[in-house]
Amino acid sequence: MKFFIDTADIKDIREAAAMGLADGVTTNPSLVAKTGRKFRDVLVEICDIVKGPVSAEVTAVKHDEMMKEAREYAALRKNIVVKIPLIPEGLKAVRTCKEEGIKTNVTLCFTATQALLAAKAGASYISPFVGRLDDISTDGMQVVEEILEIYNNYGFETEVLVASVRHPIHVQQAARLGAHIATCPLSVLIQLSKHPLTDSGLAKFLSDWEKVPK
Ligand code: E4P
Repeated sequence: MKFFIDTADIKDIREAAAMGLADGVTTNPSLVAKTGRKFRDVLVEICDIVKGPVSAEVTAVKHDEMMKEAREYAALRKNIVVKIPLIPEGLKAVRTCKEEGIKTNVTLCFTATQALLAAKAGASYISPFVGRLDDISTDGMQVVEEILEIYNNYGFETEVLVASVRHPIHVQQAARLGAHIATCPLSVLIQLSKHPLTDSGLAKFLSDWEKVPK
């Protein structure tokens, strides 16, 4: 399973990369806005740190304008993946990107049938937003399970990138289902490493070590 880090914060990306937990990076306009920096500057800096796929989201909603942004981003660095919203114009852009050899991550996916359309259009990645579904009392992980079943039925090569991950259980469930990737904020990656018995066990080992003659 691959882990992407879901942020545009350079410090967090460096931290995840140092732990070997940044196989790729996902950004979105809200995450970029938090940095207060120009998007292209942030994007290039991220690509200098992480050599895996780095998602850059278009902000246009019409095919031709989306393609203008997609070509600009793709020309910046070879590991940039263009993130495109799951709307009809977006599906057209995914298809054109596929024809031009530009990789795509189709975002804002909330149903298995949306994911089916993205795969048909030629998406490299599909991003079901599990946390936002859970927020409205819908089982986000059920959608991931359905997408994986459908993709397996037909041999689609689109990778399932579980997004809007809020806590370690989302990651555990995604891994058990065989999702290809989970994209997580640094806080979730840290939470995944935590256990109270690890902390108390380490404290005991360190205090006992003080008693050892040196
Ligand atoms: C990932 O590609 C998405 O941008 C992100 O996971 C959304 O997460 P949120 O629902 O916590 O904003």
